[in-house]
Amino acid sequence: MKECKHLAIIMDGNGRWAKAQGKPRTAGHLVGADNVRTIAIAANDLGVKYLTLYAFSTENWKRSREEVSYIMKLPAYFFKKYMQEFIDRGFQMHMIGELDELPADTERVLKEAVEESKKNTGLSLNICMNYGSQREITLAARHYAKDVLEGKADLNIDEAGFEKYLMTKDFPPVDLLIRTSGEERISNYLLWQIAYAELEFVPESWPEFTPEVLKRCLEEYSHRDRRFGGVHE
Ligand code: IPE
Ligand code: IPE
Ligand code: MG
Repeated sequence: MKECKHLAIIMDGNGRWAKAQGKPRTAGHLVGADNVRTIAIAANDLGVKYLTLYAFSTENWKRSREEVSYIMKLPAYFFKKYMQEFIDRGFQMHMIGELDELPADTERVLKEAVEESKKNTGLSLNICMNYGSQREITLAARHYAKDVLEGKADLNIDEAGFEKYLMTKDFPPVDLLIRTSGEERISNYLLWQIAYAELEFVPESWPEFTPEVLKRCLEEYSHRDRRFGGVHE
């Protein structure tokens, strides 16, 4: 099967999934959090090296205070339950987003997970928390401009040079982007990094996204003809 080194997922549909079962939206976020572990293990087994998950966007602050505060408490629940297993499996945790704007406890838990797994060399599990791609690119531009003013960067920067200012500088470009729950949009996710990614939109909501569905997605990906602007005979 064609290698999918970097898989990115927009984990969408938790709220609608819960509502359809007569439960509060937060019940969907809880099942969704547990599913991160299931899918991380499955992705690793299927040969993925980098798994980048959209957990909370810079726009998600618009939601009710109850929902936001519930989501902010999930990392503590999640890492308490699964961190030891992730370490045993060799997973390395990375965070993408402005963590310093999160509640202090949430920020601490996320940073601890990164610290505790930093010696691992297996699957890179990247969680996007308070992440927005336009914000990321704006911050990169600011940082670059400052470096130019201070004589630390050349004005004739190229794409590879600019990439070093992005929050994803340590990761390769995205090969496949999956969005769950039937929505077909990008919602400010990894705009630079998906320049040549394959896109798949699946009807299943995130809580229903099983390892079998993931396998189906990777099979579909393996039939795609990636040309990167060139020509394949
Ligand atoms: C994804 O599910 C989780 C987050 C965005 C935090 P949603 O909460 O967006 O669920 P729907 O799309 O409203 O069903
Ligand atoms: C994108 O989903 C963000 C995450 C999955 C974290 P949203 O549910 O926030 O996106 P929109 O508002 O439907 O575009
Ligand atoms: Mg949604």
